Amino acid sequence: MPDLPVKKSLSVDHLLGVNDLTLEDIEIIFSTADNFKEIINRPIRKVPTLRDITIANLFFEESTRTRVSFELAEKRLSADIINFSASSSSVKKGETLLDTVRNILAMKVEMIVIRHSSPGAPHFLARHINSRVVNAGDGTHEHPTQGLLDAYSIREKLGSVKDKKVAIIGDILHSRVALSNIFCLRKLGAEVTVCGPPTLIPKFIDSLGVSVEYNLRKTLQWCDVANVLRIQLERQNIRYFPSLREYTMLFGINREILDSLDKEVIIMHPGPINRGIELSSDVADSGQSIILDQVENGVAIRMAVLYLLAGRIGYSDANAQPS
Ligand code: CP
Repeated sequence: MPDLPVKKSLSVDHLLGVNDLTLEDIEIIFSTADNFKEIINRPIRKVPTLRDITIANLFFEESTRTRVSFELAEKRLSADIINFSASSSSVKKGETLLDTVRNILAMKVEMIVIRHSSPGAPHFLARHINSRVVNAGDGTHEHPTQGLLDAYSIREKLGSVKDKKVAIIGDILHSRVALSNIFCLRKLGAEVTVCGPPTLIPKFIDSLGVSVEYNLRKTLQWCDVANVLRIQLERQNIRYFPSLREYTMLFGINREILDSLDKEVIIMHPGPINRGIELSSDVADSGQSIILDQVENGVAIRMAVLYLLAGRIGYSDANAQPS
Protein backbone atom coordinates (compact mmCIF):
# COMPACT_ATOMS: atom_id res chain seq x y z
CA MET A 1 0.00 0.00 0.00
CA PRO A 2 1.57 3.34 -0.95
CA ASP A 3 1.88 6.22 1.45
CA LEU A 4 0.66 9.60 0.38
CA PRO A 5 3.65 11.72 -0.62
CA VAL A 6 5.23 13.88 2.03
CA LYS A 7 3.19 16.99 1.41
CA LYS A 8 5.23 19.56 -0.47
CA SER A 9 3.92 23.05 -0.77
CA LEU A 10 2.62 24.66 -3.93
CA SER A 11 3.77 28.22 -4.56
CA VAL A 12 0.13 29.36 -4.92
CA ASP A 13 -2.84 29.62 -2.52
CA HIS A 14 -5.38 29.07 -5.31
CA LEU A 15 -5.38 27.25 -8.65
CA LEU A 16 -6.45 30.05 -10.97
CA GLY A 17 -4.38 29.15 -14.02
CA VAL A 18 -1.46 27.00 -15.13
CA ASN A 19 0.30 30.25 -16.03
CA ASP A 20 0.71 30.93 -12.29
CA LEU A 21 2.33 27.55 -11.58
CA THR A 22 6.06 26.89 -11.48
CA LEU A 23 7.58 23.79 -13.05
CA GLU A 24 8.09 22.49 -9.51
CA ASP A 25 4.38 23.02 -8.71
CA ILE A 26 3.43 20.93 -11.77
CA GLU A 27 5.85 18.18 -10.80
CA ILE A 28 4.47 18.15 -7.22
CA ILE A 29 0.90 17.89 -8.57
CA PHE A 30 1.90 15.03 -10.91
CA SER A 31 3.74 13.03 -8.25
CA THR A 32 0.82 13.52 -5.83
CA ALA A 33 -1.59 12.42 -8.58
CA ASP A 34 0.53 9.26 -9.12
CA ASN A 35 -0.23 8.26 -5.53
CA PHE A 36 -3.92 9.09 -5.80
CA LYS A 37 -4.22 7.20 -9.07
CA GLU A 38 -2.89 4.10 -7.34
CA ILE A 39 -5.29 4.67 -4.43
CA ILE A 40 -8.41 5.09 -6.60
CA ASN A 41 -7.67 1.83 -8.37
CA ARG A 42 -7.74 -0.10 -5.09
CA PRO A 43 -10.88 -1.95 -3.95
CA ILE A 44 -11.29 0.66 -1.17
CA ARG A 45 -10.84 3.96 -2.95
CA LYS A 46 -11.73 6.43 -0.26
CA VAL A 47 -9.20 8.14 2.05
CA PRO A 48 -9.99 10.39 5.03
CA THR A 49 -7.58 13.08 3.88
CA LEU A 50 -10.05 16.00 3.61
CA ARG A 51 -12.44 14.91 6.34
CA ASP A 52 -13.95 18.06 7.95
CA ILE A 53 -13.13 20.19 4.90
CA THR A 54 -16.19 21.54 3.08
CA ILE A 55 -15.96 22.28 -0.64
CA ALA A 56 -18.56 24.14 -2.72
CA ASN A 57 -18.74 23.30 -6.42
CA LEU A 58 -20.15 26.42 -8.08
CA PHE A 59 -21.03 25.74 -11.71
CA PHE A 60 -22.36 28.84 -13.46
CA GLU A 61 -21.83 27.16 -16.85
CA GLU A 62 -22.64 23.67 -18.17
CA SER A 63 -20.28 20.78 -17.46
CA THR A 64 -20.31 17.01 -17.40
CA ARG A 65 -16.71 15.79 -17.00
CA THR A 66 -15.26 18.54 -14.83
CA ARG A 67 -18.23 18.73 -12.44
CA VAL A 68 -18.46 14.96 -11.96
CA SER A 69 -14.68 14.60 -11.75
CA PHE A 70 -14.32 17.26 -9.02
CA GLU A 71 -17.24 15.78 -7.11
CA LEU A 72 -15.76 12.30 -7.28
CA ALA A 73 -12.30 13.60 -6.30
CA GLU A 74 -13.82 15.35 -3.28
CA LYS A 75 -15.79 12.25 -2.27
CA ARG A 76 -12.71 10.03 -2.60
CA LEU A 77 -10.94 12.47 -0.23
CA SER A 78 -13.89 12.37 2.25
CA ALA A 79 -14.64 16.11 1.95
CA ASP A 80 -18.14 17.45 2.60
CA ILE A 81 -19.61 18.81 -0.62
CA ILE A 82 -22.11 21.46 -1.65
CA ASN A 83 -23.16 21.42 -5.30
CA PHE A 84 -24.49 24.67 -6.68
CA SER A 85 -25.81 25.29 -10.15
CA ALA A 86 -26.74 28.79 -11.25
CA SER A 87 -29.87 27.69 -13.10
CA SER A 88 -31.68 26.69 -9.89
CA SER A 89 -30.31 29.40 -7.59
CA SER A 90 -31.03 32.98 -6.55
CA VAL A 91 -28.60 34.14 -9.25
CA LYS A 92 -31.73 33.94 -11.40
CA LYS A 93 -33.22 36.66 -9.14
CA GLY A 94 -30.30 39.00 -9.78
CA GLU A 95 -27.95 38.17 -6.90
CA THR A 96 -24.32 39.10 -7.65
CA LEU A 97 -21.53 36.53 -7.85
CA LEU A 98 -19.84 37.92 -4.74
CA ASP A 99 -23.07 37.98 -2.69
CA THR A 100 -23.86 34.42 -3.72
CA VAL A 101 -20.39 33.20 -2.77
CA ARG A 102 -20.25 35.17 0.49
CA ASN A 103 -23.56 33.63 1.55
CA ILE A 104 -22.29 30.14 0.79
CA LEU A 105 -19.03 30.82 2.66
CA ALA A 106 -20.99 32.05 5.70
CA MET A 107 -21.99 28.40 6.08
CA LYS A 108 -18.30 27.56 6.76
CA VAL A 109 -16.94 26.44 3.42
CA GLU A 110 -13.17 26.17 3.06
CA MET A 111 -12.75 25.69 -0.69
CA ILE A 112 -14.55 26.87 -3.83
CA VAL A 113 -14.44 25.16 -7.21
CA ILE A 114 -15.88 27.54 -9.78
CA ARG A 115 -16.78 27.36 -13.46
CA HIS A 116 -17.97 30.64 -14.93
CA SER A 117 -18.45 32.05 -18.42
CA SER A 118 -16.59 35.26 -17.52
CA PRO A 119 -12.80 35.16 -17.82
CA GLY A 120 -11.31 36.26 -14.50
CA ALA A 121 -14.30 35.31 -12.30
CA PRO A 122 -12.18 32.93 -10.13
CA HIS A 123 -9.43 35.58 -9.84
CA PHE A 124 -12.03 38.15 -8.72
CA LEU A 125 -13.31 35.76 -6.04
CA ALA A 126 -9.80 34.91 -4.85
CA ARG A 127 -9.19 38.64 -4.22
CA HIS A 128 -12.38 39.04 -2.16
CA ILE A 129 -12.76 35.86 -0.08
CA ASN A 130 -10.66 33.89 2.35
CA SER A 131 -11.40 30.42 0.97
CA ARG A 132 -9.15 28.61 -1.50
CA VAL A 133 -10.37 28.94 -5.10
CA VAL A 134 -9.98 26.39 -7.89
CA ASN A 135 -10.75 27.49 -11.44
CA ALA A 136 -12.81 24.82 -13.21
CA GLY A 137 -12.89 26.86 -16.44
CA ASP A 138 -13.37 30.63 -16.81
CA GLY A 139 -14.79 31.62 -20.18
CA THR A 140 -12.21 31.51 -22.95
CA HIS A 141 -9.35 32.06 -20.49
CA GLU A 142 -8.01 28.96 -18.63
CA HIS A 143 -9.06 25.47 -17.57
CA PRO A 144 -6.07 24.59 -15.42
CA THR A 145 -7.04 21.11 -14.22
CA GLN A 146 -7.73 20.12 -17.86
CA GLY A 147 -4.29 21.40 -18.92
CA LEU A 148 -2.70 19.47 -16.06
CA LEU A 149 -4.59 16.23 -16.72
CA ASP A 150 -3.82 16.40 -20.44
CA ALA A 151 -0.08 16.81 -19.82
CA TYR A 152 -0.23 14.10 -17.12
CA SER A 153 -1.89 11.73 -19.63
CA ILE A 154 0.90 12.39 -22.17
CA ARG A 155 3.50 11.75 -19.46
CA GLU A 156 1.73 8.50 -18.56
CA LYS A 157 1.56 7.34 -22.20
CA LEU A 158 5.01 8.45 -23.39
CA GLY A 159 7.04 8.41 -20.15
CA SER A 160 7.68 12.15 -20.16
CA VAL A 161 6.46 15.36 -21.75
CA LYS A 162 9.86 16.95 -22.37
CA ASP A 163 10.75 17.21 -26.07
CA LYS A 164 7.49 15.54 -27.16
CA LYS A 165 5.76 17.10 -30.16
CA VAL A 166 2.18 18.04 -29.32
CA ALA A 167 -0.31 19.50 -31.79
CA ILE A 168 -3.41 21.32 -30.53
CA ILE A 169 -5.92 21.25 -33.34
CA GLY A 170 -9.16 23.13 -33.94
CA ASP A 171 -10.85 26.12 -32.33
CA ILE A 172 -7.87 27.63 -30.52
CA LEU A 173 -9.43 31.11 -30.38
CA HIS A 174 -12.29 30.18 -28.03
CA SER A 175 -10.47 27.47 -26.11
CA ARG A 176 -9.47 27.76 -22.45
CA VAL A 177 -8.19 24.18 -22.79
CA ALA A 178 -5.73 25.28 -25.49
CA LEU A 179 -4.28 28.07 -23.34
CA SER A 180 -3.87 25.89 -20.22
CA ASN A 181 -2.35 23.12 -22.36
CA ILE A 182 0.10 25.53 -23.96
CA PHE A 183 1.24 26.91 -20.59
CA CYS A 184 1.58 23.43 -19.08
CA LEU A 185 3.28 21.74 -22.05
CA ARG A 186 5.76 24.58 -22.60
CA LYS A 187 6.71 24.63 -18.91
CA LEU A 188 7.34 20.88 -19.14
CA GLY A 189 9.52 21.29 -22.24
CA ALA A 190 7.24 19.99 -25.02
CA GLU A 191 7.24 21.43 -28.53
CA VAL A 192 3.75 22.72 -29.33
CA THR A 193 2.10 23.52 -32.65
CA VAL A 194 -1.41 24.89 -32.99
CA CYS A 195 -3.36 24.06 -36.14
CA GLY A 196 -6.74 25.26 -37.36
CA PRO A 197 -8.40 27.74 -39.70
CA PRO A 198 -6.60 31.13 -39.62
CA THR A 199 -9.76 32.75 -38.23
CA LEU A 200 -9.66 30.43 -35.19
CA ILE A 201 -5.98 31.01 -34.36
CA PRO A 202 -5.40 34.05 -32.11
CA LYS A 203 -3.03 36.72 -33.42
CA PHE A 204 0.36 36.71 -31.63
CA ILE A 205 -0.10 33.18 -30.26
CA ASP A 206 3.50 32.52 -31.29
CA SER A 207 4.50 34.83 -28.42
CA LEU A 208 3.57 31.88 -26.14
CA GLY A 209 6.36 29.81 -27.69
CA VAL A 210 4.20 27.75 -30.06
CA SER A 211 4.32 27.28 -33.83
CA VAL A 212 1.33 27.80 -36.10
CA GLU A 213 0.41 25.46 -38.95
CA TYR A 214 -2.69 25.54 -41.14
CA ASN A 215 -2.24 22.20 -42.88
CA LEU A 216 -3.72 19.30 -40.90
CA ARG A 217 -1.83 16.53 -42.66
CA LYS A 218 1.55 18.26 -42.16
CA THR A 219 0.70 18.80 -38.50
CA LEU A 220 -0.24 15.16 -37.94
CA GLN A 221 2.88 13.97 -39.75
CA TRP A 222 4.97 16.14 -37.38
CA CYS A 223 3.39 15.40 -33.99
CA ASP A 224 3.54 12.57 -31.44
CA VAL A 225 0.23 13.63 -29.90
CA ALA A 226 -2.79 15.42 -31.38
CA ASN A 227 -5.06 17.10 -28.83
CA VAL A 228 -8.21 17.77 -30.83
CA LEU A 229 -10.51 20.57 -29.64
CA ARG A 230 -14.22 21.02 -29.97
CA ILE A 231 -15.60 23.66 -32.30
CA GLN A 232 -17.26 25.94 -29.73
CA LEU A 233 -20.28 27.09 -31.70
CA GLU A 234 -21.88 28.50 -28.54
CA ARG A 235 -19.04 31.05 -28.24
CA GLN A 236 -19.06 31.99 -31.94
CA ASN A 237 -21.44 34.87 -32.57
CA ILE A 238 -19.99 35.45 -36.04
CA ARG A 239 -19.07 32.93 -38.74
CA TYR A 240 -15.42 31.91 -38.55
CA PHE A 241 -15.62 29.43 -41.45
CA PRO A 242 -18.10 28.88 -44.28
CA SER A 243 -19.69 25.65 -43.03
CA LEU A 244 -19.17 22.74 -40.63
CA ARG A 245 -18.88 20.49 -43.70
CA GLU A 246 -15.93 22.52 -44.98
CA TYR A 247 -14.35 22.59 -41.52
CA THR A 248 -14.56 18.79 -41.31
CA MET A 249 -13.09 18.39 -44.80
CA LEU A 250 -10.04 20.51 -43.90
CA PHE A 251 -9.56 19.92 -40.16
CA GLY A 252 -11.58 16.84 -39.22
CA ILE A 253 -9.48 13.84 -38.16
CA ASN A 254 -10.65 10.53 -39.58
CA ARG A 255 -9.25 7.07 -40.18
CA GLU A 256 -8.28 7.86 -43.76
CA ILE A 257 -5.95 10.73 -42.85
CA LEU A 258 -4.40 8.80 -39.94
CA ASP A 259 -3.77 5.76 -42.16
CA SER A 260 -2.03 7.97 -44.72
CA LEU A 261 0.69 8.87 -42.18
CA ASP A 262 3.83 6.81 -41.72
CA LYS A 263 3.48 6.91 -37.93
CA GLU A 264 0.88 6.38 -35.21
CA VAL A 265 -0.28 9.57 -33.54
CA ILE A 266 -1.85 9.53 -30.07
CA ILE A 267 -5.30 11.12 -30.18
CA MET A 268 -6.63 13.20 -27.29
CA HIS A 269 -9.79 15.27 -26.84
CA PRO A 270 -10.92 17.13 -23.68
CA GLY A 271 -14.58 16.45 -24.46
CA PRO A 272 -17.36 16.91 -25.17
CA ILE A 273 -16.71 15.60 -28.71
CA ASN A 274 -18.64 16.77 -31.74
CA ARG A 275 -18.54 13.31 -33.34
CA GLY A 276 -18.18 13.46 -37.11
CA ILE A 277 -17.02 17.10 -37.03
CA GLU A 278 -13.56 17.46 -35.45
CA LEU A 279 -13.15 13.71 -34.89
CA SER A 280 -14.73 10.67 -36.52
CA SER A 281 -16.20 8.03 -34.22
CA ASP A 282 -13.88 5.28 -35.43
CA VAL A 283 -10.87 7.42 -34.42
CA ALA A 284 -12.37 8.61 -31.12
CA ASP A 285 -13.07 5.02 -30.10
CA SER A 286 -9.86 3.49 -31.50
CA GLY A 287 -6.81 2.15 -29.69
CA GLN A 288 -4.96 5.30 -30.75
CA SER A 289 -7.27 7.40 -28.59
CA ILE A 290 -6.52 8.05 -24.89
CA ILE A 291 -9.67 10.13 -24.36
CA LEU A 292 -11.04 7.96 -21.54
CA ASP A 293 -7.59 7.79 -19.90
CA GLN A 294 -7.73 11.60 -19.78
CA VAL A 295 -11.07 11.35 -17.97
CA GLU A 296 -9.73 8.78 -15.48
CA ASN A 297 -6.61 10.87 -14.84
CA GLY A 298 -8.78 13.92 -14.22
CA VAL A 299 -9.95 12.48 -10.90
CA ALA A 300 -6.38 11.82 -9.68
CA ILE A 301 -5.19 15.28 -10.79
CA ARG A 302 -8.14 17.00 -9.07
CA MET A 303 -7.59 14.97 -5.89
CA ALA A 304 -3.95 16.11 -5.95
CA VAL A 305 -4.86 19.77 -6.47
CA LEU A 306 -7.48 19.76 -3.68
CA TYR A 307 -5.16 17.90 -1.31
CA LEU A 308 -2.25 20.28 -1.94
CA LEU A 309 -4.39 23.43 -1.70
CA ALA A 310 -6.01 22.17 1.50
CA GLY A 311 -2.50 22.25 2.95
CA ARG A 312 -2.54 25.99 2.27
CA ILE A 313 -5.45 26.59 4.68
CA GLY A 314 -3.47 25.31 7.62
CA TYR A 315 -5.40 22.08 7.66
CA SER A 316 -3.33 19.37 9.28
CA ASP A 317 -3.67 15.96 7.76
CA ALA A 318 -0.98 14.52 9.98
CA ASN A 319 -3.40 11.87 11.19
CA ALA A 320 -5.27 11.57 7.93
CA GLN A 321 -2.91 9.38 5.92
CA PRO A 322 -4.57 6.30 4.45
CA SER A 323 -4.19 3.39 6.80
N1 CP B 1 -13.44 18.96 -20.62
C1 CP B 1 -14.46 19.63 -20.03
O1 CP B 1 -14.28 20.69 -19.42
O2 CP B 1 -15.68 19.04 -20.17
P1 CP B 1 -17.02 19.56 -19.46
O3 CP B 1 -17.38 20.87 -20.10
O4 CP B 1 -18.05 18.48 -19.70
O5 CP B 1 -16.72 19.75 -18.00
